[in-house]
Amino acid sequence: MLALQNCIAILLVSSVLGLDFKERDSLTGNAHSTFVKRNTKLGNFHSVKRRSAAEWPFSTRHHKVSRRSADRGEDTCEALQGYDDRLINNTHRFIFNDLSGSVSLAWVGDGTGVVLALTTFQVPFFLLRFGQSKLYRSENYGKSFQDVTNLINNTFILTEFGIAIGPENSGKVILTADVSGAQGSRIFRSKDFGTSFTHTDLPFNPLMQIIYNPRDANVLMVLSITNDLWLSEDFGENWRKIHESVCLAKWGSDNTIFFTTIFNGSCNDRGMLELKKTTDYGRTFKTIGSKIFSFGLGGRFVFASVMTGKGTLRMIHVSVDQGESWNMAQLPAVGHEQFYSILAASDDVVFMHVDEPGDTGFGTIFVSDDRGTVYSKSLERHLYTTTGGDTDFTNVTSLRGVYLTSVLAEDGSVQTVVTFDQGGEWKPLQKPANSKCDSTAKNKDQCSLHIHASYSTSMKLNVPMLPLTEPNAVGLILAHGSVGDAISVMTPDVYVSDDGGYSWLQALKGPHHYAILDSGGLLVAVEHNPSQPISQLKFSTDEGQCWHEYSFTKEPLYFTGLASEPGAHSMNLSIWGYRESLLSQYWVSITIDFNQLLSRDCDEKDYVQWLAHSDDISDPNDGCMLGYKERFLRLRKDSVCWNGRDYVVTKQPTPCPCTLDDFLCDFGYYRVENSSECVEQPDLKGHVLEFCLHGKKEQLQTNGYRKIPGDKCEGGVTPERKEIDLSQRCVSNLLAPELQTASSSSSIPVIIAVIAVLVLSVLGGVLFIKKYVCGGRFLVHRYSVLRQHAEANGIEGVDELDTQAAESPKRDYHDDSDEDLLE
Ligand SMILES: *[C@@H]1O[C@H](CO)[C@@H](O)[C@H](O)[C@H]1NC(C)=O
Ligand SMILES: *[C@@H]1O[C@H](CO)[C@@H](O)[C@H](O)[C@H]1NC(C)=O
Ligand SMILES: *[C@@H]1O[C@H](CO)[C@@H](O)[C@H](O)[C@H]1NC(C)=O
Ligand SMILES: *[C@@H]1O[C@H](CO)[C@@H](O)[C@H](O)[C@H]1NC(C)=O
Ligand SMILES: *[C@@H]1O[C@H](CO)[C@@H](O)[C@H](O)[C@H]1NC(C)=O
Ligand SMILES: *[C@@H]1O[C@H](CO)[C@@H](O)[C@H](O)[C@H]1NC(C)=O
Repeated sequence: MLALQNCIAILLVSSVLGLDFKERDSLTGNAHSTFVKRNTKLGNFHSVKRRSAAEWPFSTRHHKVSRRSADRGEDTCEALQGYDDRLINNTHRFIFNDLSGSVSLAWVGDGTGVVLALTTFQVPFFLLRFGQSKLYRSENYGKSFQDVTNLINNTFILTEFGIAIGPENSGKVILTADVSGAQGSRIFRSKDFGTSFTHTDLPFNPLMQIIYNPRDANVLMVLSITNDLWLSEDFGENWRKIHESVCLAKWGSDNTIFFTTIFNGSCNDRGMLELKKTTDYGRTFKTIGSKIFSFGLGGRFVFASVMTGKGTLRMIHVSVDQGESWNMAQLPAVGHEQFYSILAASDDVVFMHVDEPGDTGFGTIFVSDDRGTVYSKSLERHLYTTTGGDTDFTNVTSLRGVYLTSVLAEDGSVQTVVTFDQGGEWKPLQKPANSKCDSTAKNKDQCSLHIHASYSTSMKLNVPMLPLTEPNAVGLILAHGSVGDAISVMTPDVYVSDDGGYSWLQALKGPHHYAILDSGGLLVAVEHNPSQPISQLKFSTDEGQCWHEYSFTKEPLYFTGLASEPGAHSMNLSIWGYRESLLSQYWVSITIDFNQLLSRDCDEKDYVQWLAHSDDISDPNDGCMLGYKERFLRLRKDSVCWNGRDYVVTKQPTPCPCTLDDFLCDFGYYRVENSSECVEQPDLKGHVLEFCLHGKKEQLQTNGYRKIPGDKCEGGVTPERKEIDLSQRCVSNLLAPELQTASSSSSIPVIIAVIAVLVLSVLGGVLFIKKYVCGGRFLVHRYSVLRQHAEANGIEGVDELDTQAAESPKRDYHDDSDEDLLE
């Protein structure tokens, strides 16, 4: 029943919002975790308890995986001895006298040690809920909690809206309460890191969690269940309805709100939406697009998918000036059953997924130039199911330019591929030295590592966590995987890479929960075994080569998840779980402060130089990635010391000489197979372009080459060629709004021709091996202007823009399928 309700709630939310841009990971996701109890049998518990108790006192065991790389020093497993006493004195238990079924955690601020735990206990009764919430607060990283339920006046808090934590270190917290039967809704607001709360009754019922302006925590916006957009400029005390019939709203940069509205009808009438923006908190509005299917934001780009007016086709338009002017992206148009998705976007580059026609479960990844308009084909057969709505695309945040994802092979198997140069080239992962190929491999000695990510969790495989990387733990990746020709459905193991994905090691047998602490100086893992209570954790001070075990409790608990402060700077780790007594289950959190374990600050001697992306230091061009190489100071594997809270990554970048591979081909040019040179597209020579790039003068000058976004190469090869002014190739008055109608209608045959060319070239299955092959696929590049009056008849838009982006690795603690998941 509970599950059903949530299901209904979720369906409701997504259908009402008409989401094209699925937020895979909300901004707040990283600072939150929700743990849910699973149903266990009492009998089970007793037998296990006896067995575990026999293992007391603390066992000191470690196992070494293997030694890797040319790391000097003694055996890292011996470097750490007699740690049990030090850990026992720093293990803190807290027992919650609370029968709730789920607990949500949120960290308030950075380095404050404040954690809020909200537990909810619900009794479903038809479609109403009767429940109770309790609020606990910790000021010492979860070592102890205070029951502060009185602050929320024993009101029932809606956990599906979560604990809304303000941006930066604002200390602001909002909880949304469920006041049954009331006209509006109630929120509890805190400005002081949850020390005190005041309540405010809202004049509406919110549809979603309240969203903070990322630049000003006093300004909030939220959609109501009647699709009105409400705004508050005084941290939720007073609210103004700023617009009606709003389908989706997002904060852009500089206090801008972008939103889609529907004039007459429902938000499900995609392709009929208007895109508007306000830069003065709803006092004035500007329509910046119509016939919009959906929109998304990423990096400095605004994307909109606009109906072309030709059947159900729509195309992506991109703006780099907050929607004032638009360019049509050089990407294939898609039909209503297909979608676009922004896999990741930074200020200079966008990874865009374009779904194949038909229900294939895959599409193509395109990588943009710095204007977001010219795209290079990067990866074909990219797995992205329409049903699961999920993709394995992962930004490896611990090393620049590295991304992981999965392809759907011709034989239907799922295989992991990695790129080390921002999508230039994708290849399989190297087989870990210490592992054997499994039964999916045809050749027992030749196979590769495959990583389990979102697709596996959506398929309900036994994968408790997604791949984990942190920007301050340079080069480190922890992930579940299997070794063979394709991903295996058998129980996965945990693999570690310390060089950003070039080489891998099997670190732990079987599925685990894991966490990165002290900027990578400490890794912690707990075995994932839902049916049995646990009392042990494993930790490693050498990036996953040697693992030590520590029994953290006499009384085992049913483990639900690990919790540590986001950002991986902390050395305090909480293990959350529950114990059962005869009649009830109660929550337990055990927090271990590893400070004493590492016992000293790291000094200079503890760090070694490491050149990223390098396997041969003697080659002067080795390690060059996007025009520069970076040397990092990294902790020696055998150093047992702490990086500390204030640790910052030390890196020395050096520019590399340019080669033609540091450039992509501009609009109107393409690369011949196996060549780095960009040549003018023959059919454009001397022809007038049907559509023009709308932009500043300097953007229209081209010699056919354009630096790859983010590339910082210096000197070396510079393409020498006369600059051509692209705008001169245009019939310039086609851009004038009043002539747009004519141009649009004449463009229809061109659109069809282009699509025919696309289809033909896809059928042709031409394989481009060279990096950044661009343009070749599209014999004609078309650009246009999307203006508020202009596109009524013609150019249209973008679809499924998914800003799942960059931010944080999704943490997934829900390991059993049949629970009501609250995140
Ligand atoms: C642990 O704490 C006990 C009692 O507080 C103390 O006697 C003992 O010396 C401590 N051990 C360590 C290693 O600090
Ligand atoms: C708690 O509830 C009481 C009675 O309904 C009310 O008078 C009081 O103001 C409430 N306090 C808070 C903090 O909401
Ligand atoms: C708006 O809705 C009304 C009633 O459903 C309908 O009669 C009218 O034609 C619609 N107007 C537009 C512009 O779609
Ligand atoms: C990938 O993550 C890194 C580190 O967080 C970030 O700097 C970069 O912009 C991300 N890439 C994209 C395309 O979002
Ligand atoms: C761990 O928690 C303690 C408070 O209990 C805090 O003083 C310390 O700074 C924390 N350590 C880190 C590295 O966050
Ligand atoms: C490109 O290189 C590949 C592999 O080196 C080769 O098989 C292919 O024939 C080459 N194509 C052309 C057009 O030269």
